[in-house]
This record gives sequence, C-alpha cells and structure tokens, in this order.
Amino acid sequence: MVDTLSKNPRVTGFATLHRSTIGRKMIMAVSGLIMLAYVVAHMLGNLKIFFGETDYNGYADWLRTIGEPALHHAWFLWIIRVVLTVALVAHVWAAYTLSRADLKARPVKYQARRKGGFATSTMRWGGVILLLFIVYHILDLTTGTLNPSDADHPYQRIVADFQPDRWYVTLFYTLAMGSLCLHIWHGLWSAANTLGWNRATTASFRTLASVVAVAIAVGFLVIPFSVVFGLVD
Ligand code: HEM
Repeated sequence: MVDTLSKNPRVTGFATLHRSTIGRKMIMAVSGLIMLAYVVAHMLGNLKIFFGETDYNGYADWLRTIGEPALHHAWFLWIIRVVLTVALVAHVWAAYTLSRADLKARPVKYQARRKGGFATSTMRWGGVILLLFIVYHILDLTTGTLNPSDADHPYQRIVADFQPDRWYVTLFYTLAMGSLCLHIWHGLWSAANTLGWNRATTASFRTLASVVAVAIAVGFLVIPFSVVFGLVD
C-alpha cells in the first residue's frame, strides 16, 4: 500500500491507479457515483408503493424479468448486485487506505487520537452506519430473515416492518437516511472536486449537492413514515 504519487506523478495505467492517492480518490468517486445511481433508481422505484400493493409487488417482479429472454430470470438483478458489491468493496477499501495514509502523514506523532474535521468524522461514522444498515436492510427486506412477516412480497414486508410498535426500526432507518444524506452531500462535493467538475460553479454545485442529498433522504423516509401514520397499510 505505498503511495507512489510523490515518487511517480505520471500514474497513467489502470494497474497503477490504485497505488496513488489521486487514483484512490478517483476509485472512491467513481464507485460512489455508481452506488448513487443505484440509490436514486431504488428511491424512485420504491415510491411506487403509493400506487398500491399490486403495483409495488408487480414492480419488484418486473425487476427480475429485465433483459428476458436474452437474459435468464433475475440475471439482470444479479449483474446489478455484482456491480454494487464491487463498487462497495472498492469504496470502503479506498476510504480505509486513504484514511490510514492520512494518519501516517501527520507530522505530530505523539497524539494518540487524531480528530478529523466535522466532514471527516461524518463520512467515517456515517459510512459505518450505512454499512450496518445495508446488512440489516438486505436481511430484512430482500431475504426476509429479520422481517416480522412471513410474506414473500416486499409490500407486506415493508408494512410489517414499520408498524408503530416497531418504532426502533423506523428510528434506525431514519438514522441511516440521515447518514446517507450527509454522506451524499459531502461525497458528491468531494467526487466533483476529484473529477474536476466544479471549478467554475462552486456555490451552485454545493446547492445542487444539498438538494440531491435531501431529496434522496426524504424520498426514502416518506415510506416508513407513511406506514407509521397509516397512509400505507
Ligand atoms: C425507507 C427506505 C427504503 C426502503 C423502503 C427500501 C426497500 C427495499 C426493498 C423492498 C428491497 C427488496 C427488493 C426486492 O427484493 O425486490 C430492498 C433491497 C435493497 N435495498 Fe432498499 N429500501 C430503502 C432504502 C435503501 C437504501 C438507503 C439503500 C442504500 C443505501 C438501499 C439498498 C438496498 C439494496 C442494496 C437492496 C438489495 C437489492 C437486491 O439485491 O435485490 N435501500 N430495499
């Protein structure tokens, strides 16, 4: 895990990309944007829940038929799962190694703990919350293992999940969506910097990043709260 950037600024090939600081930042930015594209599509798709049980469960079934007959049943979904897993592993690996390099580069060695800025801590702890959330969420709504309902369909699982007496599940989802909002807000900003997109329009890009982040968090959260308040049942 050697940072070769200072020794070799001409990092060109993909094979050497992962060794340099800028290469790792690019890996973080691109993998983050891939996951962001999924999150936006997932949030918009979830809103179909407001069209009722048949439409929502039909949408979940349709996701498994995309690409047929060229692709077999659920292959498209599996391709997405593989892409997301690779993106997630690359993202976490780059974040971890970049933060270790950052720690090592500090001139003041005697300090036992390094306090990062607000954004750094938010990204680290928010990232950990999101990782825990993703594991719980898949066991809850995809496999149904941790879901209180025996139903095989996502609509019934969602309704069972966010009943008022299971307030702690709604609370955890709210915490995770709050972390997601901050993560996207800061992450979009960092990605744009890394990829050199926002030099000309700094203030407007910040506004855009905030709007996207808040819209995604609110778009997800309306579902649990609609169940809690009986609008989806
Ligand atoms: C209240 C918010 C959310 C709701 C109601 C929700 C709903 C669902 C449902 C119903 C499924 C299962 C779909 C199916 O099996 O057809 C699912 C899967 C999944 N969700 Fe969410 N989701 C929410 C938020 C999120 C967020 C914020 C993320 C990412 C950070 C996320 C990532 C995933 C992933 C990775 C899967 C697994 C997809 C698969 O492999 O089939 N979800 N979600």
